[in-house]
Amino acid sequence: MKKTKLFTLIFLLATVSLTAQNPLIIPDTLSGTEFNLNLQNGTFQFYSGTNTTTMGVNGDILGPTLIMNQGDFVDIMVDNQLADTTTIHWHGMHVSAANDGGPHTIILPGDTWNPKFTVMDKAGTYWYHPHLHMQTNKHVSLGIAGFIIVRDDEEAALDLPRTYGVDDFPLAIQTKDFDDQKQIVVPSNSDDVLMVNATIDPALDVPAQVVRFRLLNGSSQRVFNIGLSGNSTFYQIGSDGGLLSEPLALTRLQLAPGERAEILIDFDGMEGQSVQLMSYAAELADGIYGAKYPGIMQFMVLNGYDPNPLNGSNFDIITFNIGAQTGNPVTNIPASLVEVTPYPEESADITRTLTFSPEFMGPDQLNGRFFINGLTFDMEVINFTIPLNNTEIWSITNQSAIAHPFHIHDVQFFVLDRNGVPPPASEQGRKDVILVNAQETVRFITKFEDFANDPVPYMMHCHMLVHEDDGMMLSFEVVDTTTGIDDFNAGDDVFVLFPNPITDGSFTVEKSNGSTGITSYELYSLTGNRILQKTVSDQNPEIKINVSDIPSGLYFLKVYAGKAIHTRKVVIN
Ligand code: C2O
Ligand code: CU
Repeated sequence: MKKTKLFTLIFLLATVSLTAQNPLIIPDTLSGTEFNLNLQNGTFQFYSGTNTTTMGVNGDILGPTLIMNQGDFVDIMVDNQLADTTTIHWHGMHVSAANDGGPHTIILPGDTWNPKFTVMDKAGTYWYHPHLHMQTNKHVSLGIAGFIIVRDDEEAALDLPRTYGVDDFPLAIQTKDFDDQKQIVVPSNSDDVLMVNATIDPALDVPAQVVRFRLLNGSSQRVFNIGLSGNSTFYQIGSDGGLLSEPLALTRLQLAPGERAEILIDFDGMEGQSVQLMSYAAELADGIYGAKYPGIMQFMVLNGYDPNPLNGSNFDIITFNIGAQTGNPVTNIPASLVEVTPYPEESADITRTLTFSPEFMGPDQLNGRFFINGLTFDMEVINFTIPLNNTEIWSITNQSAIAHPFHIHDVQFFVLDRNGVPPPASEQGRKDVILVNAQETVRFITKFEDFANDPVPYMMHCHMLVHEDDGMMLSFEVVDTTTGIDDFNAGDDVFVLFPNPITDGSFTVEKSNGSTGITSYELYSLTGNRILQKTVSDQNPEIKINVSDIPSGLYFLKVYAGKAIHTRKVVIN
């Protein structure tokens, strides 16, 4: 008896000295329909006794978890008390482009931004983070990120754990690079410090019952290969955009930057034991950031990537220490969840092709930029115009040597296939990020509904924040082509265009204010070819444009009036 106790004591001491365990920080919650978010500079002790410069929301690091109900009209006041201009994006949520918080919707230091929208999303785990072009990595890495939990009736009817901080926990998993003064280095390929909810070496007391975890990979670049110690089974119940049709029994789940997964772990009968949530990164294929080799060819180098103990080896993410059951515990994994209905492939209006390519070939390509369709992000350019209510297949081919997590705003999509093969069950739910492996083609289907004709575009981009900041991002707008009369502004000038769509071979553009009339106009195809060009000699306030010879379709009209230039989409029927 004595011997056993002594042995236990030595064992405990050894364990403690190997991994000091810090209690997991659990972000506060805000709920209701009015949310106040103050973006602020701060200092935070990742390492006790040392102040690290950070950014946070309503605090020094990370932000509160926003709990929203489907159907609610929410009013969010974002107050930028940072010294930097930034934006806040509601990642995964279906909101209008003007409310989406992309790079065009900047909040200057000292300014506020007040998006208001109806929560249309399914119950699930979303998140918010800054999205200023070329500064996203800095603002996220310094600490601005928070969870959004959406609840709905469908989810409420299921016997799932949902008491925040008791049997339902958010886990924001991130890696960062600290310098010798313990300051965060951005950008960096040397992110060797792992943290969950800003807690290094975290531990969490959990009850001996079924517990729900909302996993977010909030890292700048790193992919995790989630598993449990001892290869125990866990159950995935949700993907990026809501619950799956049924719980999936898994031992591994890959999670790329930006992706979320909700999982259940059954701790029933395990009181007194500990379980580690791990990343089995040794099993990641080459060509994934987080594997031993970041390129598919092992001779390809990424500056700063080596040596790093996290690359290509298995490591702990968090320790769960299992305690007593709560009252009314959930003790069963449900047999089924919600109905998931992907868009049928036959319903697609078009297939759009995207290609990822490196800036330059050769062994050094991982240190360069990456392009989408040969293009790099330009704040002034709208790359795709998508008709409202279009159902589209996007076929994405990655011709580079590293996997890129592709993210699109506005929509949730369904993955059709990877290199022609249907995706694993864990990728058959609603998604807004998909890791496109090196030399792979991924196809997904989605529909662009509800929001159109906003003054700013939506984004699509690689969610490796280093790549995104380097321009691996394009924009798109959704256009409602059924409007009959169209008012549009270019600076102070107001134009009226009708009818749109054009049904009888001609249409009229009027300039309804100011002294300068229309001086010229041009018509372009969606691919950018100029189809018509006309200079109007007498600066007409009203011009009639004949398009009877032009095939039906969607076009851009560019109107010049003095200094004002404006571009508008027109549909010729
Ligand atoms: Cu999570 Cu466009 O971003
Ligand atoms: Cu990328």
